Amino acid sequence: MALSTGYNRVRTAVFISGTGSNLKSLIKFSKTKKSPISINLIISNNSKAKGLNYAKIFKIKKKILNYKNKNLSEEKLLSILKINNIEMICLAGFMKILSKNFIEKFPGNILNIHPSLLPKYKGLNTHKRALNNKEKYSGCTVHFVNARLDSGKIILQKKVKISRHETEASLAKKILFQEHKLYPKAILKTFNL
Ligand code: GAR
Repeated sequence: MALSTGYNRVRTAVFISGTGSNLKSLIKFSKTKKSPISINLIISNNSKAKGLNYAKIFKIKKKILNYKNKNLSEEKLLSILKINNIEMICLAGFMKILSKNFIEKFPGNILNIHPSLLPKYKGLNTHKRALNNKEKYSGCTVHFVNARLDSGKIILQKKVKISRHETEASLAKKILFQEHKLYPKAILKTFNL
């Protein structure tokens, strides 16, 4: 991805559904000198998402779309993104699947973070499945979003060791800690920084 101008940061929207800890880490990153992006919009499909509090804390515009009708919500979403001149989208715990039509409107400019070492454990319940399969390692992946779930080109991954007494909760925590570092690194990589 190339920076649109030498000086301006790429206007980015972060999509969330829940806690928003990755959103928080991305906001913090966006405020550093080296960041090629600014976060100008937070989108949530869930009006109760805890992460929406960061909109207030950091004075970032937020929009909630209920996603009851996917086509309609995506149409609204596209116009909101256009009005706000959004060029890049970071999915951060966004639990809805974007349509092919939507994804094609932002070619190569939608990123996602997933809590597994893709291509292993696409979809939900990643930690549970990794533990059930007695994996020695799991981790997280930042990838470009394409029309197939969790299948776009991988940008960066971080491996974590699964300990003998690991639980779903402890593994989720361990991986989330790494996610917060991996997402900013992956963004820098997409800008060749
Ligand atoms: C993160 O672990 C993220 O990788 C995962 O949801 C969590 C969101 O946490 N995303 C997915 O499972 C997407 N399929 P957060 O709201 O604290 O950033």
